[in-house]
Amino acid sequence: AVADSLYVINSFASKFFDEQLFNTEDGQAIAMSYLKERGFREEIIKKFQIGYNPQSRDTLAKALIANQFNKELLPKTGLVTVRNETELVDNYRGRIIFPIHGNTGKIIGFGARVIGKAEKAPKYINTPENDIYVKSKILYGSYFARVAIDKADECLLVEGYTDVVSLHQAGIENVVASGGTSLTIDQLRLVKKYTNNLTIIYDGDSAGVKAALRGLDMALEEGLNVKLVLIPDNEDPDSYVNKVGASGFKDFIATNKKDFILFQLEVMLKEVGTDVNKKSDLVNQIADTISKINKVEDFTKQQDYIKQCSAILKIDEGGLTTLVNKYKR
Ligand code: CTP
Ligand code: MN
Ligand code: MN
Ligand code: MN
Ligand code: MN
Repeated sequence: AVADSLYVINSFASKFFDEQLFNTEDGQAIAMSYLKERGFREEIIKKFQIGYNPQSRDTLAKALIANQFNKELLPKTGLVTVRNETELVDNYRGRIIFPIHGNTGKIIGFGARVIGKAEKAPKYINTPENDIYVKSKILYGSYFARVAIDKADECLLVEGYTDVVSLHQAGIENVVASGGTSLTIDQLRLVKKYTNNLTIIYDGDSAGVKAALRGLDMALEEGLNVKLVLIPDNEDPDSYVNKVGASGFKDFIATNKKDFILFQLEVMLKEVGTDVNKKSDLVNQIADTISKINKVEDFTKQQDYIKQCSAILKIDEGGLTTLVNKYKR
């Protein structure tokens, strides 16, 4: 089947990228030195099978052809593109390669990062949707995080590839990445297989927070307890853990973990100011959010939120309860 062939091609390519990183001059001089400069050590590079695609136009393409892979199928992987109708050229030239492992550990796709500053080209190129790479169902790092998530009974969610790898290196292994986009229902269900506790660790810029907020109602409907940690000063988890170290990072998470519903309420309350209509909208919105905690066993949790939110909003608790029940229907 097509899926099986795609796995085989990806596996071959990943070995090729490893070989290029570890055993070629350019791999060492250009790619490994960049990775080391960023603080990644060989042990973690090997664990995540990070590699390098050389700069020349068709090094991988030639290797794939020499190994007699099906030419029709190759472009589907996103590794190569057809040029001038017959010629195959590499897509990830001169990039660091992050393989993306499916839940059984097979490689389903790749994220390819430019080395150094992204000037004209996009910073990352990712595998296009195909039979085995379905972006909405993938959390980067899930294969390496499963055991740790189960043990901690908590899943940390970050934005990017490098955040996952750096936190692993710091000994924080219960971590997966969304790839910067808002969470999908399938990704939340994947988390739910391992734990009910999701902690979102995003950078504090508004784009990051908005992306996180968009997933909130869905996460609540799935019965997840959602916490939020915002990383300060234009840092992300990767840069921040490199700055403050593993224990500094853990301390920061422990002291800055906020309940997501209450966080959302505080952010919006600031925007409302003294506007009565806006406040009424906000009360409705928060009632709607609370109503999404609709599992029977979460009844106490719902009561708790009604109590805390009505206090923050300075409104009657009974009134909010009535409103929440209205949204439940
Ligand atoms: N992303 C992407 N395409 C881009 C930019 C970002 O797919 N052009 C995804 C990647 O999964 C990336 C994540 O969004 O890891 C977060 O983006 P960003 O914070 O910009 O990158 P970092 O992960 O921080 O990468 P780096 O530290 O190498 O800059
Ligand atoms: Mn469990
Ligand atoms: Mn950001
Ligand atoms: Mn980063
Ligand atoms: Mn980032």
